[in-house]
Amino acid sequence: MYSDKVMDHFQNPRNVGEIENASGVGTVGNAKCGDIMRMYLDIDDNGIIQDCKFKTFGCGAAVATSSMATELVKGKTIQQALEVTNKAVMDALDGLPPVKVHCSLLAEEAIHAALWDYAEKHGIKIEGLEKPKSDISEEEVEEEY
Ligand code: FES
Repeated sequence: MYSDKVMDHFQNPRNVGEIENASGVGTVGNAKCGDIMRMYLDIDDNGIIQDCKFKTFGCGAAVATSSMATELVKGKTIQQALEVTNKAVMDALDGLPPVKVHCSLLAEEAIHAALWDYAEKHGIKIEGLEKPKSDISEEEVEEEY
């Protein structure tokens, strides 16, 4: 049911933890399943994501997608991080079962929430970034894969 990569990131999640004085922190949840994800970003003066950590109170797929998402945004620019969509995370994990697709949306939204927090703290606007939702459960009904 799960790819080897999903199992690997679930059993050995990368970048678990917190970043003290993070440049941006984003927390999102899904009210339907009750899962919560928090993402911490350390962004340098050149807008490069130097470090990324996460904490997920959620299912195995949520842990695996957050782990992969942190790996994908590390070392990237803010604009490149915006391209780390839930689809990109799923592709990097060799897919997720259909019922678990919503878990990857948490990862995408948590990155957006952390970037939003960073932008607010710095009084800047990030091109292409919309205000993230703290609860993504309303959205997933319309998502089709
Ligand atoms: Fe809700 Fe996976 S079941 S995030």
